[in-house]
Amino acid sequence: MTELILSLDVTGLKEALRIAGACAPEIDAIKVGYPLALAAGLGIAGELAGFGLPLIADFKVADIPNTNTLICEQVFAAGFSAVIAQGFPGPDSVAACVEAAHAHGGECYVVAEMSHPGALTFFSAGVPERLCEIVAETGADGIIAPATRPERVRALRALIGKKKILSPGIGAQGGDPAEIAPLVDGMIVGRSIYGAADPAAAARTYAPYRR
Ligand code: C5P
Repeated sequence: MTELILSLDVTGLKEALRIAGACAPEIDAIKVGYPLALAAGLGIAGELAGFGLPLIADFKVADIPNTNTLICEQVFAAGFSAVIAQGFPGPDSVAACVEAAHAHGGECYVVAEMSHPGALTFFSAGVPERLCEIVAETGADGIIAPATRPERVRALRALIGKKKILSPGIGAQGGDPAEIAPLVDGMIVGRSIYGAADPAAAARTYAPYRR
């Protein structure tokens, strides 16, 4: 099954609730990042809980293990069901996020490669492959991999096997859902849904790619 994950990167609480409510029947999960969490507070998880969808905290957690634990404890206490962590701080830092997530019955995803052009400065030359090893070593639940580079998603799939791949970069960043959906477990879509005049209708255009 390929899920549709709404990246809710708006900065107004009312707007966030309006868009989430309209899109809820068309999507499988909501991703909240810094734009909304900093604007509305971590309590946004409680506000969104009523829609009955998994909530992914995209805080790209990237600190020492103890700080990662403290961050993730806040994330899961607030009601999120998954957290996204960076893998470059190393396996012990990732393990701290995975342990906190699993202790709360949640999930932890690791950014293996980012989707924007500048990402290739550091996410190259074997780094994403090493990050996939860290995912395996720590028992993380999956990776974030770029819809803007389907060939890279295929390569990373070969490394992580049945673990999940969630893929941002569809729509506004140019990724093609028809090409990426068969390769991944979740399509992460932001601006092309929440920025549309009718977000629910925009979300429905992804229905053919939700399997
Ligand atoms: O608006 P758009 O569809 O480009 O939103 C993509 C979302 O996914 C944003 O929240 C962005 O921060 C996030 N993201 C990404 N590339 C990554 C990891 C996360 O675009 N590698």
